Amino acid sequence: MYKDIVDFIQGYYQTKAFLPLHEPRFIGNEKKYLNEAIDSTFVSSVGKYVTQFEEMMANFVGSQYAIATSNGTSALHIGLKLVGVDENAEVITQPLTFIATANAIAYCNAKPIFIDVDRDTLGLSAEKLETFLEESTFINEKNECINKKTNKIIKACVPMHTFGHACKIDEIVTICDNYNIAVVEDSAESLGSYYKGQHTGTFGKVGVFSFNGNKIITTGGGGMIVTDDEALAKRAKHITTTAKVPHPYEYIHDEVGYNYRLTNLAAALGVAQMESLELFIEKQRHLAEKYQAFFKNLEIEFITEPQNSISNYWLNAVILKDRETRDEFLKYTNDNGVMTRSIWRLMNKLEMFKDAQCGDLSNAEWLEDRVVNISSSVVV
Ligand SMILES: Cc1ncc(COP(=O)(O)O)c(C=O)c1O
Repeated sequence: MYKDIVDFIQGYYQTKAFLPLHEPRFIGNEKKYLNEAIDSTFVSSVGKYVTQFEEMMANFVGSQYAIATSNGTSALHIGLKLVGVDENAEVITQPLTFIATANAIAYCNAKPIFIDVDRDTLGLSAEKLETFLEESTFINEKNECINKKTNKIIKACVPMHTFGHACKIDEIVTICDNYNIAVVEDSAESLGSYYKGQHTGTFGKVGVFSFNGNKIITTGGGGMIVTDDEALAKRAKHITTTAKVPHPYEYIHDEVGYNYRLTNLAAALGVAQMESLELFIEKQRHLAEKYQAFFKNLEIEFITEPQNSISNYWLNAVILKDRETRDEFLKYTNDNGVMTRSIWRLMNKLEMFKDAQCGDLSNAEWLEDRVVNISSSVVV
């Protein structure tokens, strides 16, 4: 059976050469815009492509503002700071995510609380979130949500749209609103994914995207903060650019800021990649359809878009019978030229976060043993 899978994937990609999990594709104006950026001498964080890329992203996702950053991790870090996460705060997130989600919380010296994911969306479970908040928190006289166990304020919640599949983000936002918790959406993987017709990343106070080399579009390294809040957008721009106060010749900085701006070179790539985005999504959805039909015959569960959503199918995944089958599958495919990867080890099992407070994590644990990512490069 594993041979059939390798044959199918190699057949789809029409190659017997080694197949990485997700390769970038540069089929449009990338070189042209990069050359223009070089010729202009504006290669760093000032230049027309940065602004253009931000405008294109804001238009595409339907947000009022978009602020480009050096990567998705820095965007998350700033996103958390924008909603007031600091060393006194706690932040709810899912244990089944890429390390950057939890790291960004640690960069703020805040503490993560891990709440389970849904089995169907792979994202934060609205139901388990609500149960946790009902049982383990109270609202104080300042309308803050206080964790009964630690007496600390739960300031933010970071749901993540895993592999481009939307979580039940409207329910999560409603629950968080009731507890005065700000939602920072980790949409690093979900550019081009929608929930109930609205683009992911635009439900919370702040949304965050990544343009790492393995994402649906890439700037080499890059990220984006999106928000509808003008004050937050201004502040995001300010603190990602060293908190420099505008002045014709003096260097004045009014707080500790960050050098987190995207370069004009990277943004030039981003603008060209945005021009290909719709095509990439169409191709990814076509590949997912083929996978779905193929795996149905093998009685292996291929992860499809959850109800009420449209996925970009950035990273395809299957659910195997158990951990042993998963390991056999990983070994066979990787030994035979098709790169596959297990899903992330749960954050609460990593040394840095092993003492974090957790809810019941039965779905995350079940998925951790079984989910494998399979070839997902765009075929153009
Ligand atoms: C869920 C998630 N969050 C955050 C990031 C961080 O993005 P970056 O690699 O651009 O820092 C990534 C991807 O890399 C991711 O998959």
